[in-house]
Amino acid sequence: MWGDPWRFDSSREHFFFPFGSVLFFTLAFMASDSASANRDQDPAFVQAAFTSIASRYVLTNHVLSMGIDVSWRKKVAKIVAARNPEFILDVATGSGDLAAEVWKACPDARIVGADFCAPMLEHAKKRGLPELIVADGMDLPFDDGSVDVITIGYGLRNMENWAGAVREFSRVLKPGGTLVILDFSLPANPVLRAPYRFYLHHILPLIAGVLTGNRQAYQYLGESIERFPKGDDMTAMLLENGYTTASATPLATGISSVYVAEKGAAATGASPA
Ligand SMILES: C[S@@+](CC[C@H](N)C(=O)[O-])C[C@H]1O[C@@H](n2cnc3c(N)ncnc32)[C@H](O)[C@@H]1O
Repeated sequence: MWGDPWRFDSSREHFFFPFGSVLFFTLAFMASDSASANRDQDPAFVQAAFTSIASRYVLTNHVLSMGIDVSWRKKVAKIVAARNPEFILDVATGSGDLAAEVWKACPDARIVGADFCAPMLEHAKKRGLPELIVADGMDLPFDDGSVDVITIGYGLRNMENWAGAVREFSRVLKPGGTLVILDFSLPANPVLRAPYRFYLHHILPLIAGVLTGNRQAYQYLGESIERFPKGDDMTAMLLENGYTTASATPLATGISSVYVAEKGAAATGASPA
C-alpha cells in the first residue's frame, strides 16, 4: 500500500526534511552534467559521472544530508534482518552506504556489494565491507537462485532498463528470496505533490546552482524522478517481472520510497520480456 504520505518517520527527519532533502538531492545528482532527457540511464554516462564525483559523494552524503538518508537505509536494513538471510547482495552499492547499514543489522550474513563504477567501490572499501565486486547490475556474476536478499539504494533509477534489471535480480534470488529497493519518488498527496514538483523543477536547481555553481545539472533531477515508476506503478512492474508479491512504503511524505518484493517459493524465474 502507498501508506500515509503525511507521516514523518522520526522527529529528526521532520526537523531536517526541507534542508536535508535539498542537500541529499544535491549530492545524489552531482553526477548529472546534462539536460538531455535520458542520459541518467546511459551506462557510459552514469559510470563516468559517478567516477568524477566519487569522493564528493562520500563526503557530502553523510555530512550534509544530516542523517535523513541514514534513517531510510536503517529501515531497509531492518527489513532485510527480519528475513534472517545467509547471503545478501547490495547492487549499485557505490560508496557502500546501504551495504554498511545492512551489514550492521546482519553481521553473520555473507554480504557482497556490487557496482560497475570502481572508484565508488574504493570508498566502500574504507567501510571494511568484506566483499566488493565490479559488476553490472544488469548482468550479475551469480548463479540462478543463489542469493537470499538483494538490496539496491538509489541505483535502479540510473539503470538502463528497469524491468530488465529487476528480472536479473529475480534470476539470482533464491525461490522465496526478497528484493528491497530504496529510491526517490514523489509525495502521493496532491496538495503536497504540486508544490514539491515546483520545488524539484524550479527551486532545487536554483539552490543547487548556488551550492555547486552548476544549475543546469539539476534541471535533470526532477525529470529523472518523474520518469521513474513509483508506488503502484513500481509494484506492478515488479509483479510482471519475476515477483509474486510487492509492496510500496513512502518515506518522509513520499520523497523516497521503499519497495519490498518476494520471489515466490515456486517461482522458476522471471516472466518473458
Ligand atoms: C547514487 S549511488 C548509490 C550508492 C549507494 N547504494 C547508496 O545507497 O548511497 C548510485 C550507484 O549506482 C551505480 N550504478 C548505476 N547503474 C549501475 C549498473 N548498471 N550496475 C552497477 N552499478 C550501477 C553507480 O555506479 C553508483 O555507484
